[in-house]
Amino acid sequence: MATKVQRFQTPIGTHDLLPQAAGRWNAFQELFAREANLANFGMIETPIFEHLGVFRRLGEGTDVVTKEMYDFLDKGDRQMALRPEKTASVCRAFAQHRPTTPWKVWYSGPFFRYEAPQAGRLRQFHQVGAEILGSDDPDVDVEVIALAARVLAGAGLRQNLLVINSMGDAESRQRFAEALQQFLRDNLDNVDPADRQKVDAHPLRVLDSKRDATREVTARAPQVADFLTDAATEHFGRVKAGLDSLAISYTVEPRLVRGLDYYSHTLFEFQSQALVTAQDALGGGGRYNGLVKALGGPETPGVGFAMGIERILLACDAEQTFVAPDASPVAFVVDVTGGENARDLTFELRDLGVSADRAFDQRSMKAQMKAADRSGAHWAVIVGQDEAAAGSVTLRNMRGSADPQRSIPRTDIGTELLRLLAAHADD
Ligand code: HAM
Repeated sequence: MATKVQRFQTPIGTHDLLPQAAGRWNAFQELFAREANLANFGMIETPIFEHLGVFRRLGEGTDVVTKEMYDFLDKGDRQMALRPEKTASVCRAFAQHRPTTPWKVWYSGPFFRYEAPQAGRLRQFHQVGAEILGSDDPDVDVEVIALAARVLAGAGLRQNLLVINSMGDAESRQRFAEALQQFLRDNLDNVDPADRQKVDAHPLRVLDSKRDATREVTARAPQVADFLTDAATEHFGRVKAGLDSLAISYTVEPRLVRGLDYYSHTLFEFQSQALVTAQDALGGGGRYNGLVKALGGPETPGVGFAMGIERILLACDAEQTFVAPDASPVAFVVDVTGGENARDLTFELRDLGVSADRAFDQRSMKAQMKAADRSGAHWAVIVGQDEAAAGSVTLRNMRGSADPQRSIPRTDIGTELLRLLAAHADD
């Protein structure tokens, strides 16, 4: 009996990135790397999986830790997890390697959260981000916010809203959490039942709720701004002054809290007004002065952000910006003499830095011309029996009617294509 072959698809909440879309993806990563390098950040890679304990420090009350962690026991019975974000790994790496400060690092890679998938919300998603460890200076907060703003502007995104808030230092945060908890207890009947259990365990998490009933209550709740210490107010003031001076517009949103527990002082989020609310967060971050210590390192302040690549490209679609660069080859060699000419010519062209492709399988002239057309190549380099005998090639312009076709010596084809490339550089 014939066994039935099972057909597989990508797991729910994951995507294949196919070559057609990869050009734009790479271009965005290159934009990010360029901006990060301009500001003297160095790249960091860390493992895709770490000991689960590293990520527990993101906050026992957060969805990321309690519901969304891809954790598993490895074959040595160690509790491991696929990374849901990078900040904890960067702090773990800092504690492990003790680099000199300020330590400015940037990253790009896949992250994993077991979320309910929808447009712009995936189980494997990709972030670019940057972190600065070792300085309390509010100008450092400005440095990371400005980097994010420059990247978004570089991608051509215009409809962004930068919202900022301050959670203050540990003392401010503690006093605010207590006042908020008392208020929520007094108004418990009006809080959505699904949010009530958070009131005792993690009152700040209630501010995250998207449920209408809860939001009506939290709109009247005490605000963190009223609980900031003088030092925290001064820090936040200097951050705002820095943004003003760099002409980065922002809105202070006193109810902004973020889905991770490690933040103190500055919090920020870039929201796209071109996307619907559930997927409008292009990126966000803030200060996390206690995280390195919580991971066994010395007391070390830190601040950073991450942005979702999928989200940003969705916003680019919505704003019709950041179109994919042309990835077509410059030349497509069509050879109906047996394939040897195509083989040798493509490599000669590539040696000169001219991108070139060809057809295989000794196909007909018609089929090869069709393949040349489909490849999007600017020029077809045709070698038929006559050309081969005369030591020439026919050069055909595949885009437009100017200078449609002419014969040139085979030995000149590389330099001629380089000349044409330079002449068309501004097209
Ligand atoms: P986050 O807000 O959890 O922060 O994620 C940052 C960005 O990653 C989000 O704004 C969103 O664009 C994207 N993102 C998050 N989850 C998903 C998902 N399931 N599907 C698609 N995109 C997603 C952090 O991760 C912090 N580590 C940021 C940070 C760095 N804070 C300080 N330093």
